[in-house]
Amino acid sequence: MQFYRHGLSGADAKAIADVLDTPFLTSGSVGKKVEAMLCAFFETPHALLVNSWTNGALAALLAMDIGPGDEVIVPAQTFIATANMVELVGAKPVFVDVDADTLLLTPAAAAAAVTARTKACIPVHMYGLMCDIKGLRAALPASVRIIEDCAHCFEGTRNGELSGRHSDMAIFSFYATKNVTCGEGGAIVLRDPDLYATLQQTRLHGMSAIAADRFKSGQYRHWDMGRLGVKANLPDLLAALLPGQIETIRARLPARTALADRYRDAFANLPIRLQRLDPDCVSAEHLFPIHVKPAVRDAAIAALNAAGVPVTVNYRSVPTLTYYREKYGYGPKDFPNSWAWGEGEISLPLWPGMPDEDQAKVIETIKTAVVPLCR
Ligand SMILES: Cc1ncc(COP(=O)(O)O)c(C=O)c1O
Repeated sequence: MQFYRHGLSGADAKAIADVLDTPFLTSGSVGKKVEAMLCAFFETPHALLVNSWTNGALAALLAMDIGPGDEVIVPAQTFIATANMVELVGAKPVFVDVDADTLLLTPAAAAAAVTARTKACIPVHMYGLMCDIKGLRAALPASVRIIEDCAHCFEGTRNGELSGRHSDMAIFSFYATKNVTCGEGGAIVLRDPDLYATLQQTRLHGMSAIAADRFKSGQYRHWDMGRLGVKANLPDLLAALLPGQIETIRARLPARTALADRYRDAFANLPIRLQRLDPDCVSAEHLFPIHVKPAVRDAAIAALNAAGVPVTVNYRSVPTLTYYREKYGYGPKDFPNSWAWGEGEISLPLWPGMPDEDQAKVIETIKTAVVPLCR
């Protein structure tokens, strides 16, 4: 049984072969086409492809001039990248506990963490369920930038709206397991033309022109460097895998939803916790997390693995990890909801095309091998 299987196949090699016929293997016309598709999909004037969510966030924080002495609010329950990029630019990630049921950062909790040093907030759409970004915008001072972490949520909506509507920018991941993937990659969508212009530079060493533009119309043009940046551009070789997926992503969501609903129905009356959905949201159902008592989590993982069911943990709460614990002295009591969830979470296999009999086996194993541990 597979935990995850992407939807790409040998047929997608044609798109890569076509790039081999163009002069630039790196960022060029294919990437520009994908960026235009992203602008149309998210109804934003600007989109930039990046080579990972992580490097995109680094470029974004540099573009916002966030650094030493600044604070950035992040949820305590997320993947480490969300907080690590804040650390890397020398700012302080200010962790905030998530809601115990939705596992999302709430506007009220974020607002309570604001200080005179707060420059930004990075809400995370955990497992595909969107945070209330409109509410967050209203709750935070206007000077605090909002960067949506959409690594789990490309196609999800809240009140019918996609990501990027109420924030300063939304950053996506096209990592190998994401709903839209090119192995490694990502994208940023945004509205502000000045921020876009700066981001174009911080995405590429702070340079004033990308390689394809430096050689436009056979005439070499000098470039300048006005600020520091990272190397975060996505090569056309990988961007070529994205158009087909962006075109079909909406049509592929019902398959994910059906799998997730089947899990939810099967586990409804069992002694395991599930993420509480929000009726205002359509989840992108990126992952299917369950939660068992922390004391039995590892035994439950062992039982699932022994039955041939592959699982992962997404994620142990970030402040409980050694680096953050040792640097800031955090303990389990600091962010109790995030800690409790992170110590008991198990993600189950879910991907469009997952065979029915595989899902039946996962459900059966939960009932016969995991539930007895929980009683
Ligand atoms: C919530 C979250 N944020 C950020 C990232 C980082 O994404 P990438 O691997 O594209 O850098 C991930 C990756 O799994 C993630 O789950």
